[in-house]
Amino acid sequence: MKKKILITGGAGFIGSHLVRHFVNKYLAYELYNLDALTYAGNLENLTDIQDKANYNFLKADITDAADIERLFKLHKFHSVIHLAAESHVDRSIKDPLSFAKTNILGTLHLLEAFKKYSDYKKGLFYHISTDEVYGSLGAEGLFTEKTSYDPNSPYSASKASSDHFVRAYGETYGLRYVISNCSNNYGSFQFPEKLIPLFIHNIIHLKPLPVYGDGHYTRDWLFVKDHANAIDTVFHKGISGETYNIGGHNEWKNIDLIKLLCSKMDVHLGRATGESEKLITFVKDRPGHDLRYAIDASKIERELGWKPSLSFDEGLEKTVVWYLENETWLNNLTSGKYQEYYERQYK
Ligand code: NAD
Ligand code: TYD
Repeated sequence: MKKKILITGGAGFIGSHLVRHFVNKYLAYELYNLDALTYAGNLENLTDIQDKANYNFLKADITDAADIERLFKLHKFHSVIHLAAESHVDRSIKDPLSFAKTNILGTLHLLEAFKKYSDYKKGLFYHISTDEVYGSLGAEGLFTEKTSYDPNSPYSASKASSDHFVRAYGETYGLRYVISNCSNNYGSFQFPEKLIPLFIHNIIHLKPLPVYGDGHYTRDWLFVKDHANAIDTVFHKGISGETYNIGGHNEWKNIDLIKLLCSKMDVHLGRATGESEKLITFVKDRPGHDLRYAIDASKIERELGWKPSLSFDEGLEKTVVWYLENETWLNNLTSGKYQEYYERQYK
């Protein structure tokens, strides 16, 4: 019988890339995508693989313990790759409770069901986490797997908590697990609340580009398909009980990244050089804004042989081209409820 692999959050940004990667590459697995289809989950992200024989979609909410238990009892999944989460820092500042509910309690429901119905000493519970659990760096240094957790936002606090629960299930019950903590992802199918797709959308529509504070915050950016590859590598080669940091060795100050993005958009839209930059507007800073994230990814590179495949310039170019060629995808997401979110966030 084929191994049943469950990916949660597979209709979201990273999840859809991961589901596609697994469905196309691993015909020996029966792949299940479990997703509640919140505002961030979109089956349009998966139309190219939806009819594949080894792909199954389960619409379910990880905060619904009874339904999660029912599905695990029915399918007895071999392994779980858990991505379902509330993922946007700005939303977590406005509504921390829903982050605790989904990211902490939802993860616990999955751990419980996995412990109860799966062969948890043979299978693997893989928690997809973020570098934001480590808090903020100053001008120097990198996050390693040994850096202490020091989360500053409700989002990162909820992810740190769920990381701890996964580890605790390993220590307490002997459940096989791995955790990876990745830097900021970019690429196709990202919901236009995050910096890069939001700014691409605003540049197309000649809307202001709201830069928080002075724009001198630094993030380490990784192309989403490289993250999907890294997850595949950790899933198949990682050691149970270990944590792996994933990053692109690709630090950018927000303002420099935004200027690069503007220049690429000017070229593609046939606008005069400097036209899009005129849209930059400095706005009130995000409360508790982490100054700098930077990842030391040498462990996964050294021990598992993974490394990023693309330069940032190539990845950003592909990303810009994708959003311009898929404007309908973007426009479908930016009507209705999105407008309410946008007004509230940027009024
Ligand atoms: P996303 O917001 O694009 O997608 C989240 C997905 O989870 C959506 O499909 C949504 O419908 C689903 N979901 C939300 N609540 C759910 C619930 N209660 N039950 C079932 N499904 C639910 O997020 P993303 O950017 O793709 O991030 C995926 C994971 O990777 C998250 O765990 C996030 O913390 C982590 N991560 C993200 C980044 C990044 O840069 N985006 C970096 C590192 C780690
Ligand atoms: P974001 O894409 O929200 O990711 P994260 O907060 O998880 O790092 O933001 C990336 C950076 O861009 C972060 O420093 C906040 C900044 N930012 C803005 O300046 N303006 C915006 O409108 C957004 C969404 C983000």
